[in-house]
Amino acid sequence: MTALITARDREAAEIIKGNDRGGYTVPTKGLYPFQWNWDSCLVALGWARIDEDRAWTEIETLFSAQWPDGMVPHIVFHRPDPGYFPGSERWGTGRTPPTSGITQPPVAASCVRRILEGAADGVMAERRARALLPKLLAYHRWFHGVRDPDGVGLVSVLHPWETGMDNSPAWDDALGRVEVAADLEPYVRRDTQHVNASMRPTKAEYDRYMTLVGFFRARGWRDEITRASPFRVADVGLNCILMRADRDLLALAQRFGDDAAAAEIASWIERSERAFGQFVDPATSMWHSIDQVAGGRVPAATHAGFLAFWAGCGDDRLLALLEAWIAKTRYAVASTAADDPRFDAIRYWRGPIWAITNFMVGEGLRQSGHDGIARRIRADTRELIDRGGFYEYFDPRDGAPCGGSSFTWTAAMWLAWAGSEPG
Ligand code: GLC
Repeated sequence: MTALITARDREAAEIIKGNDRGGYTVPTKGLYPFQWNWDSCLVALGWARIDEDRAWTEIETLFSAQWPDGMVPHIVFHRPDPGYFPGSERWGTGRTPPTSGITQPPVAASCVRRILEGAADGVMAERRARALLPKLLAYHRWFHGVRDPDGVGLVSVLHPWETGMDNSPAWDDALGRVEVAADLEPYVRRDTQHVNASMRPTKAEYDRYMTLVGFFRARGWRDEITRASPFRVADVGLNCILMRADRDLLALAQRFGDDAAAAEIASWIERSERAFGQFVDPATSMWHSIDQVAGGRVPAATHAGFLAFWAGCGDDRLLALLEAWIAKTRYAVASTAADDPRFDAIRYWRGPIWAITNFMVGEGLRQSGHDGIARRIRADTRELIDRGGFYEYFDPRDGAPCGGSSFTWTAAMWLAWAGSEPG
């Protein structure tokens, strides 16, 4: 834990504390009033600069809502809030506390390891990380089993929300094929009451998001939905994040002397490493998600492909593609290439820059020895936040801040990474 130095550091800490609801932190007031899975884990990295005890609590609270089969839900509805849709009634998962029925990119093990290794209070960190190990293991086992029922080494997502990159162009075709249910219960969106509709997913996308929720709910959220889902994608982003988290979980299991767990995790890593070649388009060397319903790689390339560096799998060809991608906009790293017809500079995951993905791509590059480009990504993130404030995301052309304001994970990325001196 290092001292908060600059005015921006203090502002970031105030945002995180202001979004604390007691044991968990909301992504932002209004727009997202509950606990989100990957937000919380990444936000714990920011908490670790302010209060290490509170950082551990953030992750523990999330795991207190873990399902008996190991799944960790993407939203935990600790308290009712009418300002958000779809709320717990629409999910109908029957859990206490109420939760959604899908998950999100599993960054938890990577965040636990990072907090442990940077901890000022090493004794507390060891104790709390050790207690989390079996829960993390159960979560990863659920992914590699339930979401990879044929053991192919690639896990499936069943809803665009599971990818964390809700309206990414990578899902256009797969989602477009989902037929909107004729008996779709009517609904009123809440997101567009908080931020401008031009920045949010469209109605056609939302109807399909809700059709999928209804489909899983009608099947009681049972394991069979992996094979039955009309939307089933091996998301390159989530698979890379899981690969990285497997490596971090392996390090934790070794540290705590759990040999059986270490062997099990190593076998997942080996299997995934063999399968990951399927993400790569041999014509371009770019990494794309795979549509497991239609078969084949999805046409759209997104920044999620560069998470291969975070997974420890990036190569020089991918590095050259990243350099070319970055050269197309003033700031790095746009979520869709600026010359792609699907690019939309302010619409959420269709072009804007996100501090959290910049963190993962940047750290992955640094850890694989690509310091120059890693520094560039961090410096850009720092400048975006310094100029625009702690917004949800940023326009890659001019850095204009977009989406929700006082955003918790943007503040956390400042404290844990971007705000430190570029070095
Ligand atoms: C949006 C984002 C998702 C995030 C959530 C809360 O749904 O797409 O990644 O977890 O908001 O910030």
